[in-house]
Parts: sequence; C-alpha cells; structure tokens
Amino acid sequence: MTTELLGEPRAAQHDVQTGTLPDGRILGLRCRSCGRPEPLGPSYVCAACFGPLEVAYDLDVVRSTLSRAVIEARPAGIWRYLELLPVAGRPARGLPVGSSPLLSAERLGEAIGIERLLIKDDSRNPTLSFKDRAVAVAVARAVDFGMDTLACASTGNLAGATAAAAAVVGLPAYVFVPADLEPAKIEHALAYGATVVPIQGTYDDVNRLCLEIADERAWGFVNINLRPFYAEGSKTLAFEIAEGLGWRLPDVVVAPIASGAMFTKLARGFDELAAIGLVKRTPVRFVGGQAAGCSPVASAFRSGSDIIEPVRTPDTIVRSLAIGNPAEGRQAVELASSSGGSIEAIPDEATAQAIRRAARLEGIYTETAGGVTIAAAEAARRRGIIRRDDEVVALLTGNGLKTPEAFRFGTQPRPAEPGVAGLAPTIPASFSAFEAWLDR
Ligand SMILES: Cc1ncc(COP(=O)(O)O)c(C=O)c1O
Ligand SMILES: [Zn+2]
Repeated sequence: MTTELLGEPRAAQHDVQTGTLPDGRILGLRCRSCGRPEPLGPSYVCAACFGPLEVAYDLDVVRSTLSRAVIEARPAGIWRYLELLPVAGRPARGLPVGSSPLLSAERLGEAIGIERLLIKDDSRNPTLSFKDRAVAVAVARAVDFGMDTLACASTGNLAGATAAAAAVVGLPAYVFVPADLEPAKIEHALAYGATVVPIQGTYDDVNRLCLEIADERAWGFVNINLRPFYAEGSKTLAFEIAEGLGWRLPDVVVAPIASGAMFTKLARGFDELAAIGLVKRTPVRFVGGQAAGCSPVASAFRSGSDIIEPVRTPDTIVRSLAIGNPAEGRQAVELASSSGGSIEAIPDEATAQAIRRAARLEGIYTETAGGVTIAAAEAARRRGIIRRDDEVVALLTGNGLKTPEAFRFGTQPRPAEPGVAGLAPTIPASFSAFEAWLDR
C-alpha cells in the first residue's frame, strides 16, 4: 500500500547523529519537568530528573508550511496533519486511521439536556478504537528507528491496535494484558497474529513488568519507550474536531481518562492549531470521565489535590480505563481545573445506561469507555459545568462489540413481548408459530 502524494513531504531519513529532521520542524525530545532537551530517539524519561519526555516542535516552521488549504487538499486520515506529528513523512505502510465522523447527536443531547451535542465516533478506526491513532505514530517511528519487534502493555484496546499495526509493517508483536481481560479483546489481538501474554494481576502490574522488559530488550513498546510519539497521535482527535467544526474550537470536550495521555493531548492539539493560526484561540472546558471503581484522577480533582492516590485494585466493568496509577493524572487534573471543566466518577450502572442510550437514540454502539464519556457529560451538565446551549463534543473512543455484555449491566434480562423490544423465544420456522407468539 503506498500512499505517497504529490506535493507532500516524502519520508526522509532522520539524522541519527543530531536527532533532528531535515526540515527543522522537529527540535527533538524535551523533558516536561525540567525542560532539558534530548535527542529524538526511543527514550521516554529525562536523564537528569526522570521526568517524562515529549516531542518539541518549531511551530514557526510549521506555521510557514501548513495552512487550512494544504490540509484540506490531502486525503482523509491522520497524516493530513503531518507537520504537527513527530514523523519525517507519511509512512509507506500503515492502516487507514482517523477522519472519523463528527455527528450531531440531537436525540441523545435532548435526553441529557445539551442542545448542541456532537459525537466524535472514534470507534470507526481499523481496530475499532482511538488507539489506532497513537499506535500509527509510534509504529512509524519504530520502523524509522529500525526496531524489529513491537510490544505494548494494554488495558484491552491497545492490544488489538498494536497487533494490527505490527501485521501491516510485517513485525512480530507481543501484547501484555491482565489475564482476566474481556475475551473479545484477547481474540482480536490473536487474530492479527500477535503473541498475547496474559499476566496475573492488574494493568498496573502488567505495566510494571513491561517497564522491566523494555529495559532489557530493544523492543518498541508503543506506550513505554515510544510513549512520546504514541502520545502525539491523540492530538489528531483535536485537529479533526477543529477541522470538522469549520476550523473552530468547541465550548466543551468530554473524554475518557485512563492514563490521561489522550485527555491532555487534546488540549495540546488545540493549542498548536491556535499557535500556528489555523483556529482562533477560544476557551475550551475539558470534562473527563473515569469509572467510579477506578477513579484516581476524578478523586484528586474532587479533593482539589495535585497528588494522585493510586487505586490498587480496580473494581469496574470499564476495563479499558482501569489504570490505577495513571502517568498523566496530575496533568489531567490541572487541565480540567484550569479550563473550568471537571472530572467525573461514573458508577457502572450509569455507564451501562449511557451505552444503551447512545445505541437506542443515536444508533451508535460504544464500549464501556464511551458509556463513561456520555455519563460524564450528563453529570457535568447536572452540576452546571456544561450549560444547556454549549457546543459539546463527546469522544466515543471504542466499539461496543469489544465489551458485548456491558450494555445490560445492572438490568434484568427482559424477554421480548409484543410492543416490548428484547430477545424473543425461539420459535419454529412457521408463519403460524410467529403469529401465535405475537397475538398471544
Ligand atoms: C476506549 C478507550 N478510551 C480511552 C482510553 C484512555 O486513554 P488514555 O490512557 O490516553 O487516558 C483508553 C485507554 O486504554 C481506551 O481503551
Ligand atoms: Zn528533566
């Protein structure tokens, strides 16, 4: 699959010596805590202070080359925004990720008291979750760095995304997951030919083990040693929201939080668009959602603390968000507070109800993280953080088929009856049998 287009930067070799890219747009990595620069490479912690590394751009260079017209002339997908991503050029091989629909959700909006509710349906990515965005960027870099094996520590969705991306570039993948993960997510990763390694313990146990493995082996762990690049992929959600609104920012964005990487990168994405003059800088409130059974970030927000108390044993149906010790938790709290947003803790029953509502009012079947998002929008509306006439974008980040039982959590199974939808009894293949049941 080649996707090279006329007029676009070609994949250029990155300069291993200096770590810079030929057009000077990417300055390298930089420590988020102390600001120390590091060369662009597969590293993720600052050698001086152990702070997290992130990608640094020269936004003046980006401003001089990237315009709305340039972006709009490009094909759909995340590489429309190439100059704001940490890759030298559009990768030669990769899945078609991004450009998911931004839908007007009038019926759901009415049900939760928001007049202008939009849904960013990011379940429509190649492996049915937004993680394809992050993985696409991480894997592009892994290929540039010459890594020969891909890996990840996953709460579920990352497993499938990493496995599929590895398949496309022809590399083996090892995905590490909690052993009691939803079976659909394990099967999904296996189907792409990955080695799935179930680990006894929580996601945080899986992550700890993977940190050790990443130290010992030269594998590309998409969310560990490739994390600075992985995290950048989530910015494309912000770019697409702004472009989808006609190069404007919404009043409110509602998104789920596990590590907090995606939530915080939404703000970074909006900031960068404003900095290069593609949108006007208008205030956006950031509302996050976590499951009540694993809500270290929501708890810190509620108590006004900037210390995240880890949750040792998550207890929730929302497995995709069950990170007890989130890497970007503090930044997420800071973003919600400083923007006038909030972080809501959602009980599993409310998550299940929200999944049913999105399905029954909008025809969108989302996984548990999407249920948390809709319920968080409703909770923030109730508390006045979101106003009735705000323009609100809710991110549905994964597909309901990945968590097939979640929608009925907390409900009694209801058999179908005439006029009541549900599962009908099995009947013989005869018209009279059907009529007899219907008229009973
Ligand atoms: C469907 C879904 N939504 C949201 C998230 C949250 O991502 P982050 O770790 O960037 O907060 C995840 C993380 O696994 C996820 O699977
Ligand atoms: Zn540092």
